[in-house]
Amino acid sequence: FHLDIDASETDKGVYPYYMLKEIDEQVIVAHTLSQYYFDDNAQIQNIDDDIISAIKAADRLYIVAAGTSYHAGLVGKRYFEQWTGIPTEVHISSEFAYDQPLLSQRPFFIFLSQSGETADSREVLDNVVKQGYPSLTLANVMNSTLTREANFALPLLAGPEIAVASTKAYTAQIIVEAILAHAVGNSQIDLKNELAKTAVEMQVIIDQKDEFKAIAEQALRGQRSAFYIGRGLDAAVAVEAALKLKEISYIQTEGFAAGELKHGTISLIEEGTPVFALLTQSKTAGLVRGEIAQVAARGANTIIISGKKLAKKGDAYVLPDVNELLMPLLTVIPAQLIAYYATLDRNLDVDRPRNLAKSVTVQ
Ligand code: AGP
Repeated sequence: FHLDIDASETDKGVYPYYMLKEIDEQVIVAHTLSQYYFDDNAQIQNIDDDIISAIKAADRLYIVAAGTSYHAGLVGKRYFEQWTGIPTEVHISSEFAYDQPLLSQRPFFIFLSQSGETADSREVLDNVVKQGYPSLTLANVMNSTLTREANFALPLLAGPEIAVASTKAYTAQIIVEAILAHAVGNSQIDLKNELAKTAVEMQVIIDQKDEFKAIAEQALRGQRSAFYIGRGLDAAVAVEAALKLKEISYIQTEGFAAGELKHGTISLIEEGTPVFALLTQSKTAGLVRGEIAQVAARGANTIIISGKKLAKKGDAYVLPDVNELLMPLLTVIPAQLIAYYATLDRNLDVDRPRNLAKSVTVQ
């Protein structure tokens, strides 16, 4: 990885936009997090034992967040359930705040936030504290409301994220969720080593920007709508991929569980509709191939982003293989870059999309 990138820099430097700089910084952030949360013997460090025991005492975890941070929670749920065995729910802050679900006997709340100031999430934390439940915030800005008012806080160490479209905070949240779940449970994988391998492959993808510039121009020029589809973890990345594209290029984009298309939405597919298919999870790869064929039969322009072991001739981009649970850290990078180049292609302001604020501090 490029050691000369200093993620704490708040100047664009040689970059045309902060978003591109922040996409590049994801590799150094992955290494920074590995070095911060693992010692030289690959043992966990810098996670307070009180956090570990508070989570272990819970009978259900509630991840609460907004926007891209909510999407990072959809991925993290898999780690907590698979590695700690604790059932985990993921909730959109603005819904949870006024429509609190029936809680378990011993809930534990995890707030994900880049800014630590999102009003919707702060509303939930206020309610959680009032009810006397334990809470932990994973945030990029450590001296923020959500870190101060939760019982515990863990840093994302991603450095200032200036672009409205969140990129490095998303991958940092996924990494810290994996590390935390690994620390609490028994993941049986050498996570430090797996993360190191993943960071190297993230760099490989980031170094192929021209491929994504070409895909973005060919698939999205002149298009008014697009879809990202996938199953399992790929469905979780699909909604994040869709948010990236729509919020900066203004192309109406939906992220969809591939199996759900046939229950109505497939009627929107027309000749040339761009459908990006994410295909990295072996358990459902065959089913997704079938769903791709269905939309292609209706004229869709299918752009397939597949993991190497599942790749077929004609796939638009083949991702290197890492542990399938960590594939979201790779799969999201093409989506970030496709959104970036589609927006450039429309001569729009990548860093400052219309009507959006970096931190939504009003409800
Ligand atoms: C994502 O690209 C957006 N900027 C937005 O959805 C953001 O993720 C959301 O507002 C949550 O912000 P937070 O992570 O600072 O709480």
